[in-house]
Amino acid sequence: NSLNALAKSKGKLYFGSATDNPEFSNTAYTKILFSDMFGQITPGNSMKWGPTEPSRDTYTYAQGDVVLNDAKNASQIVRAHNLAWYEQLPNWLSSGNFDNATLQTILTDHVTSAATHYKGQVYAWDVVNEPVDDSGNMRSWLYQDKVGTSYIDLAFRAAHAADPNAKLYLNDYNLEYSGAKFNTTLNLVKQLVAQGTPIHGVGFEGHMIVGSVPSAANIASQMNQFTALGLEVAITELDIRQTMPETAAQRMQQKTDYQNMVGACMLVTKCVGVTVWDYTDLYSWVPSTFSGQGAACPWDNNFARKPAYDGIVLGL
Ligand code: XIL
Repeated sequence: NSLNALAKSKGKLYFGSATDNPEFSNTAYTKILFSDMFGQITPGNSMKWGPTEPSRDTYTYAQGDVVLNDAKNASQIVRAHNLAWYEQLPNWLSSGNFDNATLQTILTDHVTSAATHYKGQVYAWDVVNEPVDDSGNMRSWLYQDKVGTSYIDLAFRAAHAADPNAKLYLNDYNLEYSGAKFNTTLNLVKQLVAQGTPIHGVGFEGHMIVGSVPSAANIASQMNQFTALGLEVAITELDIRQTMPETAAQRMQQKTDYQNMVGACMLVTKCVGVTVWDYTDLYSWVPSTFSGQGAACPWDNNFARKPAYDGIVLGL
């Protein structure tokens, strides 16, 4: 009755869930979240740049601390998320007109502050999030455009200096598929490893679509191209969305899709664990982000387990 216990019995470090502070007022929700069902928690928003540095050099970690402390009380480990990303930047930063040198200082300061605040308390940091776009180009955003790709090395080095024991990840979506985005990411990671950047893992976000999930073996072979470089991998944000309204056939397809995603991690020794991007449809980011899509999580709106849950059990 515990996905985490099952995952651990098969050699994984954890099975976890993302969460967010506003959800903590729902006791039916927190009862499951902080139970032994899950061994790992990711704060879905509260450790991001915008929320943590609302004005330059002013840091607020109260919300992230709540998540961390509740997880600790439940004997759960935390994946901290994230340090350098093109979305949810503080307004002063995205609307400011800073030169290259100042942007480097700003990034170093932010990463150093956050990684120092959580030093020794988190299993991993997603240091660089979604650095490659869907066409396989380095994603155009403030840091890529004004500092260049070296912002990535800068962020990893600052994080490592601040918290030498945290596993430092590059995290992205659609790495489950071969193609331009995957190739660019693999080359980028090869380059980082070759130049001695302190990167330890690659996160496969796992934001998938019902009926479009590759086989476990195919996803595992994508993962193996990173573990061959000496890195670990993890599935960091798993959800499998579908066109609404949900049908019985889609629910069964979703079960198979969850089984394949989780099964891929099981095929890869250095895949350390799986995190769902919240466990219940009630708090999924999908409906508000992808119009007409929903029901992406293994528990429904009323905290009942869906066939997707059984798919996870079969995959583990
Ligand atoms: C999402 C959160 O779940 C939403 O609440 C927020 O409005 C937007 O960000 N990839 C990531 C996550 O790495 O940080 C995103 O989280 C989902 C996509």
